Amino acid sequence: MPRSFYITTAIDYANGAPHLGHAYEKVLADVIARYRRMQGCQVHLLTGLDEHGQKVQQTAQQRNIEPQVFVDEIAVGFRQMLVDLGISNDDYIRTTETRHKKVVQDFLQRLHDQGFIYLGTKTDWYSTRQEQFLTDKDRNPDGSWPDIYGEVTQTTEENYYFKLSQFQPWLVDYLATHPDFVNPRFRQKQVLEFLKEPMNDLCISRPKTRLTWGIELPFDRNYVTYVWFDALTNYYSAVVDRGLWPADVHVIGKDILSPPHAVYWPCMLKALGLDPPKQLLVHGWWTINNQKASKSAGNAGSTLSYVSTHGADAFRYYLCREMVVGQDADFSAVSFVNRYKADLGNNLGNLVNRLLNMVGRNYAGSIPAAAADEPLEQGLRALWTETEAKLHKAIDEYQVSHALETLWVFISAMNAYIEARAPWKLAKSPEAADRARLDSCLAHVAEGLRLVATVLLPVMPVACAKLLVNIGRPVPGSFAGQLQWSQVCTLSKVAEACILFPPVDLPAPPASV
Ligand code: ME8
Ligand code: MG
Repeated sequence: MPRSFYITTAIDYANGAPHLGHAYEKVLADVIARYRRMQGCQVHLLTGLDEHGQKVQQTAQQRNIEPQVFVDEIAVGFRQMLVDLGISNDDYIRTTETRHKKVVQDFLQRLHDQGFIYLGTKTDWYSTRQEQFLTDKDRNPDGSWPDIYGEVTQTTEENYYFKLSQFQPWLVDYLATHPDFVNPRFRQKQVLEFLKEPMNDLCISRPKTRLTWGIELPFDRNYVTYVWFDALTNYYSAVVDRGLWPADVHVIGKDILSPPHAVYWPCMLKALGLDPPKQLLVHGWWTINNQKASKSAGNAGSTLSYVSTHGADAFRYYLCREMVVGQDADFSAVSFVNRYKADLGNNLGNLVNRLLNMVGRNYAGSIPAAAADEPLEQGLRALWTETEAKLHKAIDEYQVSHALETLWVFISAMNAYIEARAPWKLAKSPEAADRARLDSCLAHVAEGLRLVATVLLPVMPVACAKLLVNIGRPVPGSFAGQLQWSQVCTLSKVAEACILFPPVDLPAPPASV
């Protein structure tokens, strides 16, 4: 039985169009999912849309349409983004679906029946924009409220509370005994810092008098469910019939780690008698030209246009290469175009064409068998062995940028190898020894490219499949037996030419963002 691997992304808020942050997270999760599939795991990749809450209700009201009509429209754009990016998700969950609502209500009823939910009253400052009650700790030093909260008003309300605070000792202990729960580790330390303060219980209801767009509480029809309680449950509701719980990894951004994913969710599950997810993989924040990427700034959507100009593979490569998982990164037209030209066009693309060209001219398109074996060849093969080991380690830690960096060291070494061998000179030599060197050179470049294309399939599925087909090799569905240096390319028929990353004329970038 293949090991199952259940991976999720955050479900995106349905209150605006998809942007770079959404795209990156889906790509990261997709690359991991594709790697695991190639490693033989039975993968389930889940993504979806978070459709309830105040902001959606307000936007729909402004547009004078039903919230359901509004989110249906938004969902089309988000699903199209997945197609455009080549995301291989196995399911897509929307929180307005019946399968999800049933589980949320079942969770609430069970917690209520077991005494984990109580009715309480609270007078507090409330931010409509953030849909949360605030405390004095949230104020600016001068006593005013930070702009992110919008209008803040004092509100008295009767609401239902989940006894979150009683799980604090358990959670602290759980984190202490599971140091890899949050990846990267420095973020787990931040969660533990947060847990040094006593936690409050979690308000999990909203009275229908101010919010109707939500899942009704099963035990009180005057309330709907707080949107985070609703949204987090998607990870479970989507697989309730598949026996896949606990998830292997939730991929999320740093802004939603603590408290939602690192505190609310494990405690909710604990109260329900369910296991926590095995790991949270927390990525950093994208800026665009060093400015905050956001819906309101309106700059994040335009980066997605590179998918249509340069292709999904190049976009996927750029995002994975540029962001060290866990840290922040900056997207700019200059760095995108540089990576496209240097890493993809020159370093990888030209190497492929040199090979096809030399094999076409000198061997009628059939890759020769290696003959001579000298230190240059031995060095290249040894470097591959090293590269492969480093790659697996990086991917197992989800450090995709490190994996790509390592791989490009190998690709550069192949370019240095072909320069050193100068096959175009060897081809002109009448010496038998030089012919043997030429055989070996082209055999080694072909084999190196086969290995590179295979291991890169999860990152650039279309371009790498094309590369393999152009060197006459099948596209493998698994890494098994595919990553060792071999002779399988011998006598493979290559294409005449293959342009993987064509030069692209870009319109001048806008003067400002
Ligand atoms: O938070 N850079 O939805 P969301 C990197 N519905 N990642 C970014 C980003 C940026 N500039 N902007 C957003 C929500 N993200 C909730 C999640 S999960 C049960 C509910 C990431 O649309 C963000 O960190 O605001 C989050 O992981 C995801 O995009 C969706 O953000
Ligand atoms: Mg957000």
